[in-house]
Amino acid sequence: MAFEKVGVVGLGTMGAGIAEVFARAGIRVIGVEADPEALARGRGHLERSTGRALDKGRLSAEERAAILGRITLTTAREDLADADLVVEAIPEILEYKIALFADLDRICKPDTVLATNTSSLSVTAVAAATGRPGRVIGMHFFNPAPVMKLVEVVGTVMTDEGLPERIAELSRALGKTPVVVGDRAGFVVNRLLLPYLNQAAMLLERGVAARDDVDTAMRKGVGLPMGPFALLDLIGLDTSYEVMGVLFDETRSPRHAPAPVLRELVTAGLLGRKSGRGFHGEE
Ligand code: CAA
Repeated sequence: MAFEKVGVVGLGTMGAGIAEVFARAGIRVIGVEADPEALARGRGHLERSTGRALDKGRLSAEERAAILGRITLTTAREDLADADLVVEAIPEILEYKIALFADLDRICKPDTVLATNTSSLSVTAVAAATGRPGRVIGMHFFNPAPVMKLVEVVGTVMTDEGLPERIAELSRALGKTPVVVGDRAGFVVNRLLLPYLNQAAMLLERGVAARDDVDTAMRKGVGLPMGPFALLDLIGLDTSYEVMGVLFDETRSPRHAPAPVLRELVTAGLLGRKSGRGFHGEE
């Protein structure tokens, strides 16, 4: 079965970016949000992102209209009944994901593949909440989704044979490079990246170096496109904090204990770009 009609649940930064990636590849998308306000924010993400590409001459007005025309926005989950694939991109709270997957299992036709874009939570736990654990998989995109080329394809012990390769093939058709990985906290990228970002926050807390000097050091010394504080703000401090918590829960290693400053900023509602201020912003 080809993936001709794809649902995306949750149209925040990641979900809207994922919807755009599918629509750019010519695939029909149904984007679902919980309420009209969230749906309007999702539409705003899509219009801004494709509008920027138009301004830069990367898309013609006709191409942009065709991409947006392939995306139907709705608050009715039932509209996903005949989707071939549904990608979930809601907040990183396991209880929410389990409840959503149980509902998608009820709504969608039996052969619909259900994918989670989780950054670190257990794909196995989400799969076990459904009556089709063999057709549940991780499909992890990176921020910004329209730009970053990687997709981590996460299989579990229950995944149907051949499904990881089908999702890898779909990822290639989207212009992405897939890697197939196992269901362990943080998979590969976040298992390696988040402890580094967390250590940057620790250095700042200990007064070893100033924020901008840490960012400059890693950009100029290592050639990274962004320093760790700029990247934390891009990923979102809430997501970063949650991923560190999941790594710590699984490994119990003190190296994975979330930096207290992350918790402090999240508690204060300073989440990075999505809230206008995190380590950087409004200064
Ligand atoms: N949405 C859509 N397109 C975007 C974008 C966004 N949010 N941000 C940038 N772009 C596009 C721009 O339009 C531009 O496209 P064109 O080349 O077609 O003009 C291109 O990306 C480059 O952007 P800019 O020239 O504005 O800026 P840049 O060269 O500094 O690149 C960046 C911006 C791509 C974000 C770059 O800084 C970068 O690669 N940063 C690192 C990002 C990263 O590491 N992401 C992974 C985070 S970890 C993660 O996501 C995992 C997780 O689960 C937490």
